[in-house]
Amino acid sequence: MDRLLAYMKETAAMVEQRLETILPYADLRPENLHEAMRYAVLGGGKRLRPLLALASFDAAGGISAYRDRALDGGCAVELIHCYSLVHDDLPAMDNDSMRRNRLTVHKAFGETLAILVGDALQALGFRVMAEAAGPMAGQTVTELAKAAGSTGMVGGQVLDLEGEGTTPTVEVVERIDRWKTGALFTVACRIGAILAGADEKALTGLTGYGDAIGVLYQISDDILDRTANADKLGKTPGKDAVVGKLTYPAALGLDGAREALNAKSIQAKDAIKDFGREALYLRLLVDFLIDRVK
Ligand code: IPE
Ligand code: IPE
Ligand code: MG
Ligand code: MG
Ligand code: MG
Repeated sequence: MDRLLAYMKETAAMVEQRLETILPYADLRPENLHEAMRYAVLGGGKRLRPLLALASFDAAGGISAYRDRALDGGCAVELIHCYSLVHDDLPAMDNDSMRRNRLTVHKAFGETLAILVGDALQALGFRVMAEAAGPMAGQTVTELAKAAGSTGMVGGQVLDLEGEGTTPTVEVVERIDRWKTGALFTVACRIGAILAGADEKALTGLTGYGDAIGVLYQISDDILDRTANADKLGKTPGKDAVVGKLTYPAALGLDGAREALNAKSIQAKDAIKDFGREALYLRLLVDFLIDRVK
């Protein structure tokens, strides 16, 4: 596990540095927009989606000369993810004031700018993906658009918000989690694999892994919302139950949610069982995420 922690640290530092240069400088006009975009993206965040892109690239046997493409592909997904968080925190959505241990973007910069920060980050994400992927740009941009859109992240957000206060069933919760969170996890893995030139079998395996670990991740987020404290979490816990979010813990209780988490972890590992040591970090990550505390 120490090896995984070192790999995560090293990857997060690489991602941070790359995002730092990708984002427009804060002295570029409109300065307030660019400052807020940098605030939304830099200095926080676990960078799991870029890590998945890079680890999937490695697992699929990508050559080192092209690894920077996977780094940028992962950064593209991270930019879309950061946009989704800025909008997710808005008063019209989850109405949160804390994110990554500081004020949410709309609290720090106002609601109007927060909406536009999200819009601009989304556009930047697609630009980075298109520029990174060389001959694979058509496929990767299309996949990213699908994952981010109405039958992916945005669709999941709609179901999440419309579902508040309704009866949670595992079927509905699973769909919400697959779309709002799983879609970006899966596409991060797929982008890494595609940029590595993965064959069909490897791509299918990494897709299955992304599907399972994406839902696993949202289940653990929903468990932490019930069990963790704000300092550790960097955001305000306890709100899901108050507004009646459709989550695994709401549908099955905490113990049931933990069982579902374990089932997803088995699924994730099973999906990559035919890979060798090159998938070591993907395997270690499953156990790490099951026990995560933030
Ligand atoms: C938060 O994502 C939203 C969910 C999908 C649960 P992360 O937990 O990956 O947030 P950061 O990027 O590390 O802040
Ligand atoms: C967020 O789910 C999923 C997104 C697409 C942003 P949550 O609403 O549970 O994420 P947090 O808890 O605010 O990070
Ligand atoms: Mg939400
Ligand atoms: Mg939220
Ligand atoms: Mg949450």
